[in-house]
Amino acid sequence: MSGPKRDLVGIEPMSRADIELTLDTAGSFAEISERPVKKVPTLRGKTVVNLFLEPSTRTRTSFEIAGKRLSADVINISGSGSSIAKGESLRDTLRTIEAMSVDCLVIRHSSSGSAAFAADLLSFPVINAGDGCHEHPTQALLDLYTISTALGRLKGVRVVLVGDVLHSRVARSLMLALEKVGSAVTVVAPPGLIPSDVEQYGVRVAPVLDDVLPSADVLYVLRVQKERMGRQFYPSDREYASLYGINKTRLEALPKKSLLMHPGPVNRGVEIDADVAESGRSLIDKQVTSGVAVRMASLYWLLGGTPAA
Ligand code: NCD
Repeated sequence: MSGPKRDLVGIEPMSRADIELTLDTAGSFAEISERPVKKVPTLRGKTVVNLFLEPSTRTRTSFEIAGKRLSADVINISGSGSSIAKGESLRDTLRTIEAMSVDCLVIRHSSSGSAAFAADLLSFPVINAGDGCHEHPTQALLDLYTISTALGRLKGVRVVLVGDVLHSRVARSLMLALEKVGSAVTVVAPPGLIPSDVEQYGVRVAPVLDDVLPSADVLYVLRVQKERMGRQFYPSDREYASLYGINKTRLEALPKKSLLMHPGPVNRGVEIDADVAESGRSLIDKQVTSGVAVRMASLYWLLGGTPAA
């Protein structure tokens, strides 16, 4: 690849065309995961390091699978097994990785801005796999890919986003992405869990969930992020569930063809009931499947591989 290096730090700097190109590329990579031999030589000889300094199941595993399906060598580093646990700084860890001729870094970190810090420091592409409460761009891209595969369009799709928007990097990236592709987003959350600047994302805020369910094409439920809450934002889980939790009655209040999404992991019985998460309208498993194709597409564009075989 020639020219300046590219990074995927957030949805914010992406154009609608960039987003559409990634989704189209994901569409052509999705089929590789259906083959008996799920591997193409596209990124042979490239080394991708997954540096995950916060817990993760879906994102870390799907980046690893995506890299391996494209024949890259993938190395996983976690906080507890690395020298970060001995007190090494993020800067020193990044420089150490750079000294080993790596081609791409995927980073998850609890501090907002850490992915941009890595992208500025390193001479090779950086992908943000979630930085604090800031952005999680590949999650938004996989959500768009899932919606467009299920509904055949993104423009004009009405999305109701319910839950802990304040602490959610998923919500931030998703609101930015949905606005760019022309979807209409309504946010519903306990007042303390709505960011004060939410209107800059071009969304509408609605106070009562039950009022907006009948006009949702997609109901997107966010996890209550207790690990990021320094104080109590609502009286109790029971009260949260009664006002904002998705149960069978709420699911039935949606139009017949509407779909349910959640980025995972799910707090069953708080933001969503167990039987609802597993209902036929739930796209939760499809979101996970889409994650592999979208991350293959992201690695492909940043590393400038050759077309899939
Ligand atoms: C999200 C994350 O880590 O930001 N999960 C994910 O990547 N699938 C959402 C969450 O933890 O609630």
